[in-house]
Amino acid sequence: MAYSEKVMDHFANPRNVGEMEDADGIGEVGNSKCGDIMKMYIKVKDDVITDVSFKTFGCGAAIATSSMATELVKGHTIPEALQLTNKAVMEALDGLPPVKVHCSVLAEQAIKAAVSDYYQKQGIDPKTVVGEIPEPIECHLED
Ligand code: FES
Repeated sequence: MAYSEKVMDHFANPRNVGEMEDADGIGEVGNSKCGDIMKMYIKVKDDVITDVSFKTFGCGAAIATSSMATELVKGHTIPEALQLTNKAVMEALDGLPPVKVHCSVLAEQAIKAAVSDYYQKQGIDPKTVVGEIPEPIECHLED
């Protein structure tokens, strides 16, 4: 399966790239098998994610899914952002090859990790709001 035009577009022209100096929450997740790392930064006001950015050291699909995930949560409330699944990110990108599904899981985890960090900084136990961050699924680089 080839990459969709949307994946290629978000890989070649990723949205919301870069560090955020005054972030309210920062989440970093990685996949130990492929070694890819995704870092998400969020700015929050009145429970709304007013700004979001990312830095991804990873494959093209990881960059495209990070980019799409930022677009899907920007301007949305934290509860809405927590509903974001890797499946929704993949659908918004018109699909990913099966061996690249785990890259989209990183994007879902990174958003949840950034929200967790935000709550932690507010003195709120993130588990009560965010729940458990899904475990990384295996990278199938060898397939
Ligand atoms: Fe592991 Fe894409 S994040 S290969």
